[in-house]
Amino acid sequence: MRIVLVGPPGAGKGTQAAFLAKNLDIPHISTGDLFRANISQGTALGVEAKGYMDRGELVPDEVTIGMAQDRMKQDDAANGFLLDGFPRNVAQAEALDAVLKKDDMQLDAVLDLEVPEDEVVKRIAGRRICRNDSAHVFHVEYNAPKTEGVCDVCGGELYQRADDSEETVRTRLEVYHTQTEPIIDYYRAQNLVVTISALGKVDEVTARAMDALKK
Ligand code: AP5
Ligand code: MG
Repeated sequence: MRIVLVGPPGAGKGTQAAFLAKNLDIPHISTGDLFRANISQGTALGVEAKGYMDRGELVPDEVTIGMAQDRMKQDDAANGFLLDGFPRNVAQAEALDAVLKKDDMQLDAVLDLEVPEDEVVKRIAGRRICRNDSAHVFHVEYNAPKTEGVCDVCGGELYQRADDSEETVRTRLEVYHTQTEPIIDYYRAQNLVVTISALGKVDEVTARAMDALKK
């Protein structure tokens, strides 16, 4: 299956992707996680991306599309993938379509996670992620690690993302509404969009998502 996850910052894309990718046996590809890995490794790509991310703006398409393409070409993605955070504007969606078309492939679904803005703000405020791997995501209240400040998955140190400050979150939400939401209409025209509510417990949302994808 080739699936795109879409939803505002803090909707729970990364959290759900971990379970969905496991259930569907496809890799979870998050452009945000790829950028954060590049930043912690100090690569040129990471240095370029960091300023944009810290301001809550999109990293330029020239950088992002190439990075996503390279990841999708890896062996584990030959039979499908779950994209989280890509595409994030119509130009990226068009680029993805072109890449898939070249290999005679297409997307199977675009899963749209719907969450009210006040809930998103609460989720982001309490989020903690792991220094070793930003795909290991917790919440101080809603999804607390067994030991405070320590990752359940790998024992790494948990910290708050630099772009989770109140001011940057405001920019990220605005960028979502103006640049990312239009891709939902773009994919609606291809009859690919499945919208579900992302409210409720993590496992309830996963069950809802699996149900929606089966249809
Ligand atoms: P990215 O890392 O993709 O951030 P985002 O889209 O803003 O999404 P988040 O990761 O903030 O939220 P999420 O939906 O994954 O929620 P999570 O599961 O963590 O991108 C960061 C930046 O990178 C961008 O701003 C941009 O600069 C750059 N970038 C990335 N991709 C790009 C692209 N394609 N083009 C250009 N630039 C790009 O959950 C949030 C919290 O809620 C957690 O604490 C979690 O434990 C909790 N939670 C989850 N589910 C529930 C639940 N059901 N109930 C209660 N709490 C829950
Ligand atoms: Mg995420």
